Amino acid sequence: MSEYFKIDPWGTSYIKDYNRLMEEFGIKPLTDELISQLPFAHRLIRRKIIFGHRDLERIIISIRSGETYAVMTGIKPSGAFHLGSKLTADEFIYFLMLSPKAFGYYAIADLEAYADNKIPLDESYKIAVDNLADLLALGLDPKRVYVYRQSEEMRVLRLAFIFSRGVTYNTLRAIYGEQRFGLYFSALVQAGDILAPQLPENSGPKATIVPVGADQDPHIRLTRDLAQKYQGEFGFILPSATYHILLRDLTGMEKMSKRNPMGILYLSESLESAKKKVMNAFTGGRATAEEQRRLGGEPEKCVIFRELLSVHFMENDAKLRELYLKCKGGEILCGECKARAWEIISKWLSEHKKKKEEMLDIAVKLLEEHTLA
Ligand code: TRP
Ligand code: SF4
Repeated sequence: MSEYFKIDPWGTSYIKDYNRLMEEFGIKPLTDELISQLPFAHRLIRRKIIFGHRDLERIIISIRSGETYAVMTGIKPSGAFHLGSKLTADEFIYFLMLSPKAFGYYAIADLEAYADNKIPLDESYKIAVDNLADLLALGLDPKRVYVYRQSEEMRVLRLAFIFSRGVTYNTLRAIYGEQRFGLYFSALVQAGDILAPQLPENSGPKATIVPVGADQDPHIRLTRDLAQKYQGEFGFILPSATYHILLRDLTGMEKMSKRNPMGILYLSESLESAKKKVMNAFTGGRATAEEQRRLGGEPEKCVIFRELLSVHFMENDAKLRELYLKCKGGEILCGECKARAWEIISKWLSEHKKKKEEMLDIAVKLLEEHTLA
């Protein structure tokens, strides 16, 4: 295996060739045939932002037979919700919507935030409340989810310890490279997160879907290996996963970094600062207006078109297509296009902030009580 393809989920990953990634690690492409079997396709699926999966067939069987399945994901509470966090949150909510029998498990990865970013637990608690309020404002039904902090969840920690007996240093190094033991331990805790929905306390083995970014695949592989290894003891069904491509930041940089503040759009930042970021975003425009009218723009390279409108803010396929053609045909210039995009985005942000305000109390309650069902 080449060095290049040792994905580091804690680093700033950048994947150039998704086909090679799939070939090398056995991620399956999300085919039209499979998509057609879903009750409905989310825009992220229609637009191939979610490009691959493992065992999604298993989830489709559960949906069709009305069988219970778990939707599992987690967030490292290391900062405010931004467009990247929204992506996973949208997927989490989508897989819950696909069946009334689906139930959500949401891990607040405070141990990982400590191991990776040295964020003290009391601080990550506050961030977690804020993150949860965003998640609820995005449409998560608090009655259909179990929310917990890794540091407080004995069932998960116990599993992590049990799994540690089945993993050697060599295995971890082969998957993650040389890392601090805190990170290796976080990986085992994440395996605990993903398999805990199948414990007897949670009504036993069941299909589980974990929607993640492609950089999380090492964790999925480790977890699936462990599920296999401990199948005799726990009866685990190997967890399924979907993968989205890693998106660029607003300035068009492939590697998202908090050190580039103009690159990240937070869901609750001021409209003033959000506007600055959108107006400065990287586009597929040409050097001059004359050239753009003559040659057309390049929407496939454009952050406004792709990362903002296509991924997050333009639900309507026909409208998106119309913009694509207008851009390609040089019928619209970037200034006007950005102003229109900002109209949509600012409206969305204002509404989101209002909803989030109303969700803060529920977020606190949810974190204390795990579920409001
Ligand atoms: N490692 C994930 C991240 O950094 C967070 C996470 C923790 C997670 N536990 C999980 C993701 C379980 C999916 C499933 O974003
Ligand atoms: Fe992007 Fe719009 Fe400019 Fe086309 S016109 S490159 S979609 S900003």
